[in-house]
Amino acid sequence: MKVLFVSGEGLPFSSTGGLADVIGSLPKALAANYEEDDIRVILPLYASTKEKFAAELNYEFSKTVNLAWRHQYCGVFSIKRDGVTYYFIDNEFYFKRSTLYGQYDDGERFAFFSRAVIDILPDIDFFPDILHCNDWQSALAILYLRLSYSYDERYRQIKTLYTIHNIEYQGKFGLESLGDLFGLDERDRSVVEYNHCVNLTKGAIVCADRVTTVSERYASEIQTEFYASGLHYVLRLFRDKICGITNGIDEVYYNPKNDPIIARQYDAETIELKKECKRELQELCGLPVRDDVPLIAMISRLTAHKGFDLVKYILPEMLTEDRQFVLLGTGEPELENFFRNMQSMHPKKVRAFIQYDKDLSKKIYAGADMFLMPSKSEPCGLAQMICSEYGTVPIVRETGGLADTIQPYNRYTGEGNGFTFRNYNAHEMKDAVERAEELYRDKDKWQQFCADIMKIDFSWNVSAEKYRQIYQSLLD
Ligand code: GLC
Repeated sequence: MKVLFVSGEGLPFSSTGGLADVIGSLPKALAANYEEDDIRVILPLYASTKEKFAAELNYEFSKTVNLAWRHQYCGVFSIKRDGVTYYFIDNEFYFKRSTLYGQYDDGERFAFFSRAVIDILPDIDFFPDILHCNDWQSALAILYLRLSYSYDERYRQIKTLYTIHNIEYQGKFGLESLGDLFGLDERDRSVVEYNHCVNLTKGAIVCADRVTTVSERYASEIQTEFYASGLHYVLRLFRDKICGITNGIDEVYYNPKNDPIIARQYDAETIELKKECKRELQELCGLPVRDDVPLIAMISRLTAHKGFDLVKYILPEMLTEDRQFVLLGTGEPELENFFRNMQSMHPKKVRAFIQYDKDLSKKIYAGADMFLMPSKSEPCGLAQMICSEYGTVPIVRETGGLADTIQPYNRYTGEGNGFTFRNYNAHEMKDAVERAEELYRDKDKWQQFCADIMKIDFSWNVSAEKYRQIYQSLLD
């Protein structure tokens, strides 16, 4: 089977969040588990990727990509690793920028990228059985395949899967962009038009053979108005082709037993060594080095749907008690300032790292006692699984993938693998933290609990198999 993944980001080459983790691990897992398959990935060649991987990148060829009235240079580079072939689309005008997204011409940049993906298939001599696109940055690849290339038998037989990693990011543009920017025909307007915009996610949902999202719970949640960011009509209409597959994580990359970044390596059997990671983290944060105070961490994009209304509301109250709080993330300026402010008001209790830093994140996963994810919505969430690998206890709201992966601790039976709360309510969140702290004070029980959650299998094995079954069902 030949599978081509398309995404705006993927580890280790580029990353702004969870999508990059998935693209960095699912293709690898498929290649490892199904050796007969040919798994390839296409990504933009951002300036940062070019710099960091200069020595490894192989130049393949270049051509001109035509889209609407534009004729643009397109270089193609490749890297092979872990049984996967990665291609990179080069055009410095579009991708030599300081950030991956959030530029004024994102629509044009990713239209070029998606068009290039479809255009280069004959040149790389790879017509996949399955084209697997992820989020709006690659949605147009499915649209071009179906709307502009279906006259060609080699393209027509390709089956398509579209994965929604987060319905909040839909790729919405003014209607005037239909032909001018995206090169789509007026007769295809109804495919992409939604609420007086061009909506690329809507277009991909309409055109894809199957649609998946990254947890089962989220697949049903997004058919309701509260979670769908306006797309519930479309998602309900096409519900028969939608299903949820929970993400896995890369258990080799996230493994405290041989993680070179953390202060001290440990596993479930030697969990008492985790203390040393806590000490290092407290030193790094300039917080009092104490073993007896609960250290609660958050690593997150600073956006509203991650649950920051609750944190903003209740953190000042929570800091009147004996706790330490560490945050890592960037995002909305108002939230960045809130955490800077908290840090300056409570320098002995709060440390806010307003940055995006993979290595530091591992030190936090290893050094914290508890990990907080009070998301309003959470398609899957990876951090609750990553922190578990490091024996750090997740405290989550019961939504999306958080509800699918974390079962509440039962103090009578000892069952469960974290602490949860149901309603989007700050005091319910605080209550969940306090329940975790109650167990924390019972040192032996706590250590056993932390050791137990480290043993849970959050690898890709089961979920990669589910994707493989969907691919197969499309070919049958
Ligand atoms: C997005 C979602 C997150 C999910 C990730 C990978 O970042 O917000 O919940 O885990 O994509 O699918």
